[in-house]
Amino acid sequence: MQDKVKAFLVSSDASIIDGIRSSPGLQGDVEFVGSAPGAEEALGVIGMLRPDVVLVDIDTPAGPNAGIISTILAGAPMVTVIAISASSEVSSLRQAMIAGAREYLLKPIERNELLASVSKAYDADRMLRKLEHGAGAVSATFKPLQHKGKVIAVFSTKGGVGKTTIAVNLAVSLARETREKVSIVDLDLEFGDVALLLDVVPPRTFADIARRGNIDREFVEYCLVSHASGLRILAAPGRPELAELVGVEHVRRTLGILKESFDYIVVDTAQSFSENVLSALDTADVILLVTTLEIPSIKNTRMCLDLMKSLRYPEEKTKIVVNRSSREIGINPREVEKTLGRTVDVHVPSDGRVVVPSVNSGVPFVMAAPGSAIARSIRDLARSLAGTREKTRSFALPGFRFAE
Ligand SMILES: Nc1ncnc2c1ncn2[C@@H]1O[C@H](COP(=O)(O)OP(=O)(O)O)[C@@H](O)[C@H]1O
Ligand SMILES: [Mg+2]
Repeated sequence: MQDKVKAFLVSSDASIIDGIRSSPGLQGDVEFVGSAPGAEEALGVIGMLRPDVVLVDIDTPAGPNAGIISTILAGAPMVTVIAISASSEVSSLRQAMIAGAREYLLKPIERNELLASVSKAYDADRMLRKLEHGAGAVSATFKPLQHKGKVIAVFSTKGGVGKTTIAVNLAVSLARETREKVSIVDLDLEFGDVALLLDVVPPRTFADIARRGNIDREFVEYCLVSHASGLRILAAPGRPELAELVGVEHVRRTLGILKESFDYIVVDTAQSFSENVLSALDTADVILLVTTLEIPSIKNTRMCLDLMKSLRYPEEKTKIVVNRSSREIGINPREVEKTLGRTVDVHVPSDGRVVVPSVNSGVPFVMAAPGSAIARSIRDLARSLAGTREKTRSFALPGFRFAE
């Protein structure tokens, strides 16, 4: 039988202490072992009581103070901290998370929420500790060091052009076609929906990486979620306010680690030249610049190409992907090529009858409708990127020239 999770409370608020002490659920999986009014007093007894989880009330008369968490963790680095506060300000949550809290509970604390948070935070940290104390089984799934995978960024400065649709199906296709190690990173940190399109609920996300001081291979591996296709997913933080935690250094380091561990790393991006996205574009071996056959989208693509020129990216680093390509509507692809001064490398047809059910069911169309023209176009793209010679019929539009 599993031991009970020992919880300790740091708060000077008598009502909270009473509430937690009298909470009947705490007699179940969670055992309340004691409380202290402040960080100093807590550290005096934590060494003896050895709690697994410390609930830290960060409210002070002067407002929320995440410094209490830092003090506790400096003295007792192995405990799991859950912050408690009456403040719903994003800045308070952010400060608490940066200080090392795993969860943030708003007052008044609801019993079920408290119990769920204690168990969840403890389970997550227990996995981490296992990793820290010898992660043989996990690291065995990695490639040897010095391995250099290919980073493929899917980018556009416009939303709704199909970046995520293409990134997800391309990653799954790469995993199935090459049978090599493939991961997908959701760098649309605020509103990313890669996990949703793959029908997974990620227990860990990029926010966990950002909260970690020292990012290593084992930790990155621990934050990835597996998909039935063999693909591994690094999901975007579940809440937009957590996106801010992720900085350029996290992106750079994470991609560097994934490059050593995977053969292909597909990066879905947000529609902006944010520092995080730029850092991914810098790291990328190939940038798939997605456009549609509409004037604003083409104008944006032109601007992107200019910017990439000024960043001194070699021309062959960028591939132009026209999504929702169709002969009947939109601008003629030849016109697009003239406007961009570049050949279109890939055409992905428009097919709502295939795409919509795939999105709604969370099964990528390269799996759900492998015979469709749109799935074939993505599979061809995957094979081109993988340098596989064998080719299926490409989508009928001219211009599929994707030799490396
Ligand atoms: N080739 C396509 N045919 C039909 N619908 C598409 C196609 N590509 C994308 N869509 C749809 O267009 C919308 C925007 O796509 P999405 O991949 O989320 O764009 P982005 O990531 O660039 O914002 C989604 O509803 C998606 O299902
Ligand atoms: Mg998207």
